[in-house]
Amino acid sequence: MIHPKVLSQTTFVNEDELSYPFQERGLQFGDGIYEVIRVYQGNYYLINEHVDRLFRSAEAVKLTLPFNKERLYHLLEELLKINKVENDAKVYLQATRGSALRDHVFPIDVEANFYAYVQDLPRPMEKLTSGVAAITMPDERWQNCYIKSLNLLPNVLAKQEAKEHGAFEAILHRDGKVTECSSSNAYIVKEGKIHTHPETNNILHGCVRSRVKILAKELGIPFIEQAFKLEDLQEADEVFLSSSTAEVMPIVKIDGKNVQNGEPGPVTKKLQTAYQEDAGLTASSVPKAT
Ligand code: PDD
Repeated sequence: MIHPKVLSQTTFVNEDELSYPFQERGLQFGDGIYEVIRVYQGNYYLINEHVDRLFRSAEAVKLTLPFNKERLYHLLEELLKINKVENDAKVYLQATRGSALRDHVFPIDVEANFYAYVQDLPRPMEKLTSGVAAITMPDERWQNCYIKSLNLLPNVLAKQEAKEHGAFEAILHRDGKVTECSSSNAYIVKEGKIHTHPETNNILHGCVRSRVKILAKELGIPFIEQAFKLEDLQEADEVFLSSSTAEVMPIVKIDGKNVQNGEPGPVTKKLQTAYQEDAGLTASSVPKAT
């Protein structure tokens, strides 16, 4: 369910009052940026990380947002309050370069368009407990994947390809080196150590990824930020992904073959437990960890 009050620029309107212009740069060019922020039991999780990344993305694409960080924090808190959000949800927000007749060059004196809304999102408990399947695919995206841009066609096509193969995610690689997944970060565990792609331009610097790094450190699990190869996936002890909507999710099958015995592994489970504690989730919502 989408909650009825939507933030449009810096005011709240009913969802059905929101009319979006036809000549709009987000629609014409995907000329904009976005964020997806997790809400647990009516509270934001990792909000500072998401707000900081939104401003980094805006700067990278030379887009001026219609507020500063402080005002955005306030508006986002209002969004939850005004909708009386008390459950698990996500907030989607996007900013585009505004409304103007189609022309590749930036329009002059045009304000960014911005909206944000809340949508209920229960935790994916079954997938968190049993793990998911993934396929592997070439990473066909541009060279600036650290920007959370609206241009998601390669990601959409990869996710659809995964779905058509009965899988949850597509693990992407550039020249045989795993970058990330279509909408999440990718990790392997080998001999007790976590390996993942470094935070270069070729991956989104995931907010959950940054938290996984901290949690791994607290748990004494080495966190190695070096790209691993496609072959390493099949030989890994464990494989998992992370994102604001999928949390820390085990990958138990890749390209139709089980990862080890096809069950979530102990390091992934430890991280899941640590994540849930960090997010202030109740014990009853913790998947069985052994
Ligand atoms: N996706 N990599 C990609 C390509 C992503 O699209 C995402 C998030 C992540 C994980 O980032 P974070 O931990 O900050 O959620 C990594 C969001 C959930 C989406 O597009 O819906």
